[in-house]
Amino acid sequence: MRNVRSQIKILEKYVYLDNASSGPLPEPVIGKILEFTRKWQEEGEPWEEGIFSMLNVKRLFADMVGAKREEIAAFPSVTYGLGMILTSLSLRKGKVVLAEHNFPTSVLLARSLEARGLVKEVRVTRLDEVARAIDSETSLVMVDYVGWLSGEVAGLPDIADEAHRHGALLVSDAFHAVGVMPVNVRKLDVDVLVTGSYKWLMSIHGAALAYVREELLDSTIPVFAGWLSVSDSVVRRIEKGEPEFTRPLDTSRLELADGGSRLEPGTLSLLSFAALESSLQFLLENGAPSLYHHTWKLADMIAEEIESAGLELFSPRDNHSAIISFRSDRPMELAGRLERMGVRVAARPGLVRVSPHFYNDSYDVYRFTEALKKALGR
Ligand SMILES: Cc1ncc(COP(=O)(O)O)c(C=O)c1O
Repeated sequence: MRNVRSQIKILEKYVYLDNASSGPLPEPVIGKILEFTRKWQEEGEPWEEGIFSMLNVKRLFADMVGAKREEIAAFPSVTYGLGMILTSLSLRKGKVVLAEHNFPTSVLLARSLEARGLVKEVRVTRLDEVARAIDSETSLVMVDYVGWLSGEVAGLPDIADEAHRHGALLVSDAFHAVGVMPVNVRKLDVDVLVTGSYKWLMSIHGAALAYVREELLDSTIPVFAGWLSVSDSVVRRIEKGEPEFTRPLDTSRLELADGGSRLEPGTLSLLSFAALESSLQFLLENGAPSLYHHTWKLADMIAEEIESAGLELFSPRDNHSAIISFRSDRPMELAGRLERMGVRVAARPGLVRVSPHFYNDSYDVYRFTEALKKALGR
């Protein structure tokens, strides 16, 4: 682990326990960004190289979550990706059931579908009541795999059973799972799963990925299409090793690409995908997310120390992930004090959130605990 830690510069300055906000950038990612922009400066845009990085990212992500490469779509952000997918499906006009623990994006997206008359009702319920809220009127269920504040892990397979029994789709935002814990879309039985680049995947903004079940993907008609969403796009030509522009691009009809690229209308931030390629390689080479038992144990130790300090946990003691939150009257003040003592955590309304990753160790937990006691004046 020492070798891994030496490649994460911020660890020289801080005990970094804020991976749920954004991940630190490892040296290979910085190297890749510099190399990509330097090439652009000196030789012109490394377009093909960026396209190959993007395709490789889709491949690595597919392997990571147990999906087929064709079932993966790339987007500029999680919010954009979810929006593109949901607006491209022909949803039965019914009820959307969402978990209260979700990040605001999914709820607001459901409300916008409702405002446009595409769904009848938006119902937000406690996580443990989602399965019961699903009925024959339900067309869509949206449950984040891990709560962004609570860190609670949703029982997706049971929710999927209930959703599918009623002919509804299960869409899951797994931004707080992919990269830190093992994720398998077949075992979870989700229809759609999304994640982004800048938290547990330790890269920069501008890249997000989605799995869309093959049969579902084939039925999507993107709300808007573009030069890269068609079957004979230049990306497809590059992928097949054909010259890009020897044949004209046919605009006489819309022949959508098979697979996820039908949802990718235009050029993505190739720099972001080049950076993400190197962070995924960094994570995989160093054993994340299979080191989850280690990360979970650290989070569990943190939960124990928080309780011993007499604070009230917001995260569930048993069913937690790598996110541990506790209640605080003055979260900003407490997080600020911890930061001045060299410990980075996040302040959220009424809460302080602590989120270790695979590269943290028990000495980090010790330093967090000591700083917490001091910050609380004990
Ligand atoms: C669970 C979850 N989903 C989505 C987002 C936002 O993602 P993006 O900025 O890529 O749209 C966040 C950001 O914190 C998040 O925690």
